[in-house]
Amino acid sequence: MANAPDVHICEAGPRDGLQNLDIFLPTEAKCALIDAIVAAGVREIDAGSFVPPKVVPQFADVEIVMAHALARKEAATIGALVPNFKGAERAIAAGVDAIYFVISASETHNQANVRRTIGEQLEGFRAVRAAIDARPVGNRPHLVGGISTAFGCSLEGRIGEGAVRRLAAAYAEAGADEIGLADTVGYATPPLIKQIVQGVRSDLGVAMSLRLHLHDTLGMGLANVVAGLEAGIHRFDAAVSGLGGCPFAPGARGNIVTEDLVFMLEEMGLSTGINLDRLMATRAILSAHIPARHLTGHLHEAGIPKALRRAA
Ligand code: COA
Ligand code: ZN
Repeated sequence: MANAPDVHICEAGPRDGLQNLDIFLPTEAKCALIDAIVAAGVREIDAGSFVPPKVVPQFADVEIVMAHALARKEAATIGALVPNFKGAERAIAAGVDAIYFVISASETHNQANVRRTIGEQLEGFRAVRAAIDARPVGNRPHLVGGISTAFGCSLEGRIGEGAVRRLAAAYAEAGADEIGLADTVGYATPPLIKQIVQGVRSDLGVAMSLRLHLHDTLGMGLANVVAGLEAGIHRFDAAVSGLGGCPFAPGARGNIVTEDLVFMLEEMGLSTGINLDRLMATRAILSAHIPARHLTGHLHEAGIPKALRRAA
């Protein structure tokens, strides 16, 4: 891969973006979406979920989609969401580069999402770590400990900072390669982002890689990115056309819009390695199957980038 950009973006559209849709995006369209995302220069893709098809029917074809995505692994890290050991076994068998495990800081959301207590879910994480460590060095997926509802929960409300810090510390102790702080329902605000990131950093030190996964429910998604940057975060999840939401977290709106995020970062003088025009081309693939009411994005609506470039 080429030189690392200033900010690393993980495109979560093919996973978070699709998991809450009541429309099944045909397998070929999922593959075309991944191809277009890779062609835009994105370095990491959350390409699907290894969940039971009866829980999330959208990912009934995840093995096929993942094989397609992994054929592009020279260009991008290909990851998958995994909710339990069985999911990890499937992800490892598929050959994924990264596993995004999920535990919620909110006990209520954790039960709704994965039908386990937080403690039971941590046991599952340890088993996944052990399964990865049993593999040859050089053939071990990167293991991200995702903390869902880290900034609030639509079932429990505000989440105490202590709960998030304890879970992050437990993940670190259990061998997470990275911690993902997820604003699953989009309740974060810039000061809260700083507070939680600084708290986790002070517990775990700078050696532990952190990423932010943000939703734009309250319209603060990009402000939260800036707060994250100011707190030293350089890794963000986002979804093209602002798709996204958790089926077990009522009220969540879509992820921060990758196109708008790239535009903002580049305007701030931070490289992303992503070609915005090519990224914008993903819209056509989505529009062919998904009604317009599900698709957002200020740049798409305003058509700004081309006009700005002409003026430059
Ligand atoms: N992939 C495929 N099948 C799986 C599976 C997985 N990851 N995990 C469990 N199963 C199967 C089991 O083998 C079992 O099959 P059987 O009935 O034929 O024996 C069945 O599903 C029930 O297994 P169990 O361990 O009891 O699961 P559960 O019903 O308690 O559900 C989860 C637990 C974690 C699988 C489910 O809650 C889930 O998928 N949650 C994720 C939701 C999500 O995607 N949220 C959004 C992203 S954060
Ligand atoms: Zn999400």
